[in-house]
Amino acid sequence: MTGQQKTSRIEGFYKLPLEEKIKIVKDWAGLTDEEVALLLNFGNLPRDIGERMIENVVGAMSYPFAVAVNFLINGRDYLVPMVIEEASVVAAASNAARMLRYEKGIVAEAGPQEMIGQIHIVNVTAPQAKAARILEHKQEILEHAAQQDPVLVKYGGGPRDLEVRVVDTRKGPAIIVHLIVDVRDAMGANAVNTMAEAIAPILEKLTGGQARLRIISNYATRRIVRAWARTPAENIGGLEIAKRIEEASILAEADPYRAVTHNKGIMNGIIAVALATAQDHRAIEAGAHAYAARTGVYKPLSTWEVDEEGFLNGYLELPLQIGIVGGATRVHPIAKIALKILGVNTAKELAEVMAAVGLAQNLAALRALVTEGIQKGHMRLHARNLAVMAGATGELIDKVAERMIKDGRIRFDYAKELVEKALRGEPI
Ligand code: MEV
Repeated sequence: MTGQQKTSRIEGFYKLPLEEKIKIVKDWAGLTDEEVALLLNFGNLPRDIGERMIENVVGAMSYPFAVAVNFLINGRDYLVPMVIEEASVVAAASNAARMLRYEKGIVAEAGPQEMIGQIHIVNVTAPQAKAARILEHKQEILEHAAQQDPVLVKYGGGPRDLEVRVVDTRKGPAIIVHLIVDVRDAMGANAVNTMAEAIAPILEKLTGGQARLRIISNYATRRIVRAWARTPAENIGGLEIAKRIEEASILAEADPYRAVTHNKGIMNGIIAVALATAQDHRAIEAGAHAYAARTGVYKPLSTWEVDEEGFLNGYLELPLQIGIVGGATRVHPIAKIALKILGVNTAKELAEVMAAVGLAQNLAALRALVTEGIQKGHMRLHARNLAVMAGATGELIDKVAERMIKDGRIRFDYAKELVEKALRGEPI
């Protein structure tokens, strides 16, 4: 191989057994036997399931699975499973959830679980007339769509409506048909995509045009969830802090640069629950951020206000495209356990919990930002991580971390020095 360039063009890689795939990767990257063994440790994801979930599998990767506590949502208590790589998120969510345990706690309400399937039709002459013709045949088109998913229909879901638009593209007019489908407890992509593909030939016939894209829209504007909460200012540390949280909200409303970070804090919580329950988190993110920009300017998904009685009020609204049946949710054994811990019975309820978590997460971030800043808490966790990396175990982890914080030297080399000292039996 010397002098020869490595190539990533590997014919039939996907067909190889896992052992051969991993051998190729091992040679490619010079992985050690220990590294290969670690990669091949599928942990709590059975290997056969993992191998079937995606293609070209050469191992699995574990993330910590935590539960956020203190959540009272619509008068019911929840333990909320969260999977995330970022320190502080779970602690922050739990903390804010405690502050929002006032009366019924966080109130959340999801609307209908409707998704939009898009069919784009090009090369149409007299597009307005053809759009009208499509609407004339609405019933027959909806019936054909319904036939694609009798199970969904049996459970009370199915196609609900058809909307038709003529849009001007730089290559002339095109027709965009929206098929509205009540997807019930599914995320809905499979059901909607199947229906969109099935009705496309009918639309081609009616319009004389050609159907191009037939796919769900992740701009899930018909699947909105709202969460709000009201808590006495003393529950969050006093009126001054409440007012500063409102001020932070106002800044986010005025400045997209801040709004993006504000929303990132909300998504910290929502995506952590999405990961724990094996949702399509890219869809959630795409839809949420598009919704934040629906007015043409990127805005915060939540707002915070102090009312005349000195209560802090938070309100969050976003689309959530999530499911509890189908997809990885029912395949990944840990996602199934996550749903069991949550105890949710419908996708609507899961959406409500996720929105509530987003609101609490947002409060935690803003509260930290307007008081001590977020670095203090982060640095404590960072110090503990450094101590572990430096070889500390058990009680020594906190001891080393505390020393680093006290000395204002939260660095790996110092962690190592302290651990070595402690292991030699010297005081640190
Ligand atoms: C960090 O992951 C999230 C925050 O930046 C959110 C915010 O600024 O509101 C703290």
